[in-house]
Amino acid sequence: MNTKLEIPCAYQGGKQRLAKDIVNIIFNENEINESTRFYDLCCGTGAITIELVNRGIKPKNITMLDISVWGMFWKAVGDGNFDIDKFKEYIDSVPEDKFLIQSYIKELYKQPANIDTIYKFLLIQATSFGSKAIWLKNEIEWCTSSFRNYWQPNGIAKRKSPVNPMIPMPDTMFKRMVNIVERMKGVNVINDDINSLLEFEENSITYIDPPYQNTSGYGYSFGLNEYINKIIKYNKIYISEGIELSEKSYLLSKGRAKGGVSGNRKKANDEWLNVYEAV
Ligand SMILES: C[S@@+](CC[C@H](N)C(=O)[O-])C[C@H]1O[C@@H](n2cnc3c(N)ncnc32)[C@H](O)[C@@H]1O
Repeated sequence: MNTKLEIPCAYQGGKQRLAKDIVNIIFNENEINESTRFYDLCCGTGAITIELVNRGIKPKNITMLDISVWGMFWKAVGDGNFDIDKFKEYIDSVPEDKFLIQSYIKELYKQPANIDTIYKFLLIQATSFGSKAIWLKNEIEWCTSSFRNYWQPNGIAKRKSPVNPMIPMPDTMFKRMVNIVERMKGVNVINDDINSLLEFEENSITYIDPPYQNTSGYGYSFGLNEYINKIIKYNKIYISEGIELSEKSYLLSKGRAKGGVSGNRKKANDEWLNVYEAV
């Protein structure tokens, strides 16, 4: 039996925890067959595509799109150009001592981003504080705020367990990538702005996970309503948002309190799946 595919690393707004619910709704509402085409737009870590493939959908029946380095990464995977040996070299260069990882990543972050972009990206993204998005400021520089450090309980903070500097740690990420490279070859990937995709194949279902309204931090955005209007004639569209947008929608999870290391709690947003269908 195949090992379940998992996303390469943590990413803000990543849908790994909601992917099962989202795909359940899509499968319940539609008759899925061999010719159904799926579009995973603003795919990021690929959480939705990965759930689809774990349920038996063939990668060649899926098109992923993201303008960020995630798009570049998935394109390499889909085209069979992700060099797992090169990634292993990067993985092996991460210090084993967890206390040294942050400074190692800070150095890697200063290296030219145009060389081995996708391999460096995975390590940098996995270490990003709060899993915040990493993107390219220009061709040779990364953009981010700060990196996680190895943290151990200090008797003052409420948290009682250590926090690793990377999510996941390098060995786990490598295992996940071996599986991804093996099983995701053939997926169609567009590393471009969402507005470059205006035509869809017949019998298709589109899922869009845009940057949520009134949030920032991905380095890219687009006008969601304008885009929906342009493509609604082609297919049924499912959209994740922190708010209810369409007449038909599902509340996937109520905002819950999120605890940080400091013990401060802030309210996370609700998660909605909005459904749009041409009338
Ligand atoms: C909420 S995140 C998606 C998370 C993803 N579904 C996952 O599970 O990891 C939003 C994504 O939209 C992408 N994005 C933002 N503006 C875009 C645009 N104009 N065209 C294509 N992608 C865009 C960002 O790069 C980011 O990865």
